[in-house]
Amino acid sequence: MTRRTTMNPPFFLFLLHLCLLCFGSCSAVSEQDCSQQEGGVVGHGYNLRSVGIDRPGKSLTARLQLVRETSTYGPDVQNLVLSASYETKDRLRVRITDSDRQRWEIPQHVISRRSETAARGLLSSCSTQHVFSNQDSDLDFILHRESPFRFSVVRRSTGDVLFASQPRVVFKDQYLEISSSLPATRSSLYGLGEHTKSTFRLVPNDTFTLWNADIASANPDVNLYGSHPFCMDVRSSSPNAAARSAGITHGVLLMNSNGMDVLYGGDHITYKVIGGVLDFYFFAGPSPLAVMDQYTELIGRPAPMPYWSFGFHQSKYGYKNVAELEYVVARYARANIPLEAMWNDIDYMDAFKDFTLDPINFPERKMRRFVDRLHMKGQKYVGIVDPGINVNCTYGTYLRGLEKDIYVKRGGANYLASVWPGQVHFPDFLNPAAREFWAREIAMFRQKLPVDGLWVDMNEASNFDTSSRPLNSLDEPPYKINNAGVRRPINNNTVPASAMHYGNVAEYDVHNLYGLLESRATHDALIQATGKRPFVLTRSTFVGSGKYVAHWTGDNAARWEDLRYSIPSILNSGLFGIPMVGADICGFIGDTTEELCRRWIQVGAFYPFARDHSAINFIHQELYLWESVARSARKALGLRYRLLPYFYTLMYEAHAKGAPIARPLFFSFPEDTATYDVRTQFLLGAGVMVSPVLKPNTVTVNAYFPRGRWFDMFDYSQSVTSANGRYVRLNAPEDTINVHVRGGNILAMQGEGLTTRMARQTPFELLVVLDERGRAAGEVFLDDGEQVEMAGEKGEWSLVRFSSEIEGRNLRLRSEVVNGDYAQRRNLVIGKVVILGMEVKASSQISSVYVNAKEASCNAFVGDGVVEIRGLSQRMSEEFGMKLDINY
Ligand code: NOJ
Repeated sequence: MTRRTTMNPPFFLFLLHLCLLCFGSCSAVSEQDCSQQEGGVVGHGYNLRSVGIDRPGKSLTARLQLVRETSTYGPDVQNLVLSASYETKDRLRVRITDSDRQRWEIPQHVISRRSETAARGLLSSCSTQHVFSNQDSDLDFILHRESPFRFSVVRRSTGDVLFASQPRVVFKDQYLEISSSLPATRSSLYGLGEHTKSTFRLVPNDTFTLWNADIASANPDVNLYGSHPFCMDVRSSSPNAAARSAGITHGVLLMNSNGMDVLYGGDHITYKVIGGVLDFYFFAGPSPLAVMDQYTELIGRPAPMPYWSFGFHQSKYGYKNVAELEYVVARYARANIPLEAMWNDIDYMDAFKDFTLDPINFPERKMRRFVDRLHMKGQKYVGIVDPGINVNCTYGTYLRGLEKDIYVKRGGANYLASVWPGQVHFPDFLNPAAREFWAREIAMFRQKLPVDGLWVDMNEASNFDTSSRPLNSLDEPPYKINNAGVRRPINNNTVPASAMHYGNVAEYDVHNLYGLLESRATHDALIQATGKRPFVLTRSTFVGSGKYVAHWTGDNAARWEDLRYSIPSILNSGLFGIPMVGADICGFIGDTTEELCRRWIQVGAFYPFARDHSAINFIHQELYLWESVARSARKALGLRYRLLPYFYTLMYEAHAKGAPIARPLFFSFPEDTATYDVRTQFLLGAGVMVSPVLKPNTVTVNAYFPRGRWFDMFDYSQSVTSANGRYVRLNAPEDTINVHVRGGNILAMQGEGLTTRMARQTPFELLVVLDERGRAAGEVFLDDGEQVEMAGEKGEWSLVRFSSEIEGRNLRLRSEVVNGDYAQRRNLVIGKVVILGMEVKASSQISSVYVNAKEASCNAFVGDGVVEIRGLSQRMSEEFGMKLDINY
């Protein structure tokens, strides 16, 4: 028997493509000496010495040699090694480091990013370049053979160059620099945070500094609490006219925890980094949602949040005592405004010491009673903790930390900083013993006061002491990143860079990881202590924080511009894989006003995380304090609570695929370039669009409507039809925020409630919103909202999909039960179906409603283009088909 080898057509085309890239002269390469090809320009950068691939074809390795020393920022590294690998078909990694000496890299135990299914690549070479490709991947890696060396990442299907490194690569101990050209007119960049910006799309000629700092987010254009060297690039057209034109998207991550400046110049981007290695990941997309899926597959999927955390939260820095907390809770109830969780800032502590209670104003007995009562009413309580442990010989937490030797050190001694309680040491969360210490302290504290969640603040880490003297070049690196916008020393206001962590790691390298590590420790500790899904809110974040925590945008101000900033900031957090995010509603710093607070709760009601919080010494801003704010709160939060099953289903999508909960418009309409600049509106999921008023004395909104039919969620009879995207001026009287749902979606909703527990006891309602072709689809995810895993193997949960279409003159609605366990056990019932977008007239009538081919006894109404079927009792866990006969 003879064995025949056949080549399948895609593979053949792939090989042909490789040959064409090299203009015909392709040859399979194992290891090549490239030194002869040098010559030509001699300058800064590195020359290619050799190129090869390993046997299974998993990675390409290139050896690089310095061309010439550069004069600034210290001596150059002589020899570099570059490796390129397809970690998945949609993820290409390109890593450049010193070939002779090991350098700092984010350890796997901090961000685990092993790739189990590494895809094979194929190398072909010709006189001008080496091409490393994978037949299933749309990304090609090209090493150019000229001198100095450079590389490109190219999207094969469109020929678009996604990254084109410039020859001037600089690699020194404390300074790395690499640039890529960008097609200025076709590329829209997003991300590179955390920063407060007036736009969401990045504006050219801007520097993005990444160095976690306690800088109030009220300050635009400077580094803030978190670092995310990740950007998304949406191309408005492609160089290859045959390919789809607008909206093809990719992502780029520089996996590096050191301080850096990223300069965006429109036609180029330059990374200037003060340590670590150049470790780039390219995510192929091609849609924004696909990029999020690929990005969070690498860095960790967003943590599921408890159901209750989607309720409304009230906080203030400056609550005086338990009586005041009780008063606030009672006033919310009296005003009929939903209140899910009451929060305490540092005021509840004894002299600002973590895990203690002020014996006078917040004594344990009273606090316990307060929290127990909240729990009885279905409400929650969240308290703050800061990382600094007060140095105080009468303080148990401090002494236990000392005994376990878990504090960050400098010059051999525990590093002494200063925060709210005075002198503090910082637990070193890189040390496993510190994580155990933290878990134990949290468990002990919860014995005293059963908090439902923890708020970890000041974890950049913030340090009020600025007197530390430099010890070595870590404290004063030769290149000064643009810290605080004024090239402030990196040691300022935080732990000095020469401080040391467990495993002989310098703060210099792990500074940006402190908040992430504390978040993980707190998340793990809460699971250990409660056995339930934890809720942790953090200020400081890094790549991968979303796997553990929610985030708020920090210290904004009670100003209209901060209300506007909140939208880009929230959208950014979603891009960074932290979808549970909100800004302090009504503003943190400064006295808010009735009008600002009213407009703010209208928007804030639709933040994924909705919390009112303000600073000490400024006026109170609880929502019941002004009648007009209370009215807006009832209206906007009323819709939020009805949408809770939808929010929660979006949480499930976020956890499963990294999809942000609050999304920019271009996520659903990448082909519509008019969406790229929108910064005053956002989407919840794919189908709900929020178009708020963000200016004083304004009662209209000029809102962009991408193509489709959009129905007003407060008045279903009102709709906007947009053929190709258009701006529409909407009315927005003082109590109104515009929220629209797009044709094509089915949303699962429930009734209102003052707590999520109450809302969850009401029957379900399906909102079926037909598109122009008479179709719609959607899904709902349900579980008890507190089991640790979401859709875990052992857990009880439900996922039900719905689809609907017009058939002839009738409407059909079907459900598909992917998993009915939870819905069955809880006997969850759909009581009502509302259909929007049918061509019904006032005189139309529903002649009959059939459920699973049997005529159902229910009430059907037609009015104002809206069809409503009430009185149903359809079990969510049972698949159904519903048919509506209509007399037009
Ligand atoms: C800083 C936080 O950003 C703020 O929200 C909090 O109120 C204060 N620290 C006091 O704890």
